[in-house]
Amino acid sequence: MGCNDAASCFCFWNKNLKQKLEKTHCLQEVQEVQRSQGSQGDGKEHGKEIGKEMVVNPWEVSGKVDYQKLVEHFGAGLISPDLLDRLHRVILQTGRVKELHPWLRRGIFFSHRDLHEICRLKEMGKPFYLYTGRGPSSEAMHLGHLLPFMFTKWLQDAFDVPLVIQMTDDEKFLWKGEYDSEDGDNLEHFRFLAMENAKDIIACGFDKSKTFIFSDCDYLGQMYPNVLRIWKSVTYNVAKSTFGFEGSSNIGKSAFPAIQMAPSFPSSFKVPLKEMENLACLIPCAIDQDPYFRITRNIAHKLVPKDHPLKGKPSLLFCKFFPPLQGTQGKMSSSDSNSAVFLTDSPQEIEKKIKRYAFSGGCETEEEQRVKGADLEVDVPFQWLTFFLEDDEKLQQIADDYSRGSGEFWGTGKVKECLIRVLQSLIKKHQEGHLGSCCVSSESSNFCKKLVLFGARAAK
Ligand code: TRP
Repeated sequence: MGCNDAASCFCFWNKNLKQKLEKTHCLQEVQEVQRSQGSQGDGKEHGKEIGKEMVVNPWEVSGKVDYQKLVEHFGAGLISPDLLDRLHRVILQTGRVKELHPWLRRGIFFSHRDLHEICRLKEMGKPFYLYTGRGPSSEAMHLGHLLPFMFTKWLQDAFDVPLVIQMTDDEKFLWKGEYDSEDGDNLEHFRFLAMENAKDIIACGFDKSKTFIFSDCDYLGQMYPNVLRIWKSVTYNVAKSTFGFEGSSNIGKSAFPAIQMAPSFPSSFKVPLKEMENLACLIPCAIDQDPYFRITRNIAHKLVPKDHPLKGKPSLLFCKFFPPLQGTQGKMSSSDSNSAVFLTDSPQEIEKKIKRYAFSGGCETEEEQRVKGADLEVDVPFQWLTFFLEDDEKLQQIADDYSRGSGEFWGTGKVKECLIRVLQSLIKKHQEGHLGSCCVSSESSNFCKKLVLFGARAAK
């Protein structure tokens, strides 16, 4: 079960570690996994349960996540060994990176729609653009939030393509906003969060000349013709059955999906994408965002010229969810500062959090540990290393030692130490990441102008 098919495509991957990683990522019993890019809704509005224990939709992820079942339910595909090989060849051809990203090799980005079409286009020397986004619900972003952006940065490096990043301040206001009869509403708060989060996103180091980041509140006017076309093409029945809206939902919630769909079409970015209306679009994101893009693909032909190579359908690359620090018991949350590692954490805070709070599959005593070894399936420090330790051989060694209770990494202390070092260096790099403007067109949006100003300040 699980996503064994996805993981088994790594033929060059040592079988031993491969099996452990399969277990780690596919069978983990995560009671409540916060999805990697944001927080949950009010819990009342969600799509159907998928199977008995699993709920995955754009606003809620809970229960034991069975990725195989999820992919089947959504109708997406697993990335096959052949497809991965093809992607590897295409990437080597561009000559810009040498290897596939570890998250592709390790089955973290594990599922897709029409990825072979992107390969085909690249093989023919045709361009495409990348689209991803973030719902700004908290000021501080944590590691889980950053995953899709780190991966998108790699994709941009590998393919040298334009990127658009949507900050859905509108979405978060509609789902989480408040109104107070004294103070009014807090829409401005979400616009502020969009700005704050954009700075963290920019620090991933995207190519400034090819990246356009925008807030919906600021940029919607430019996309409005396409939003209208989408509204006209999608029935309320479809929106309701896909997203689970109820009669008591505010009407903005029903309107919002079109706003997340619109950036899938190049004509939403006349200036940043230079009127190239036939560009194909690739969207890297966590798999809970699929419902938006499933609908998008069904109506896509209405929003592009007839000779668009994919008839307007965006391609998708899906990742799994990032496990919270407390493992199977807890949930990663921006409001509980001990449940996640934040981009603002100091080296000492990182050390403290991992040492104190990372759920371990290790044993109580050294003696027991050396006999039984660790349970890699539930061990958070090991799971996190599979995300952030780039060195395949070292990861293999840790998996072997730790699961057997022998060698350099026989116990939890050593494994945690390794993770602490990896995270400290990653967060340090991020904090040093220069915060500059990344706007193709600073003319088209106030948001971008503000970021340009911010970049100018940061550069001093
Ligand atoms: N809805 C996403 C969130 O809550 C934000 C988002 C907007 C997004 N557009 C996207 C995520 C495109 C991935 C791809 O975080």
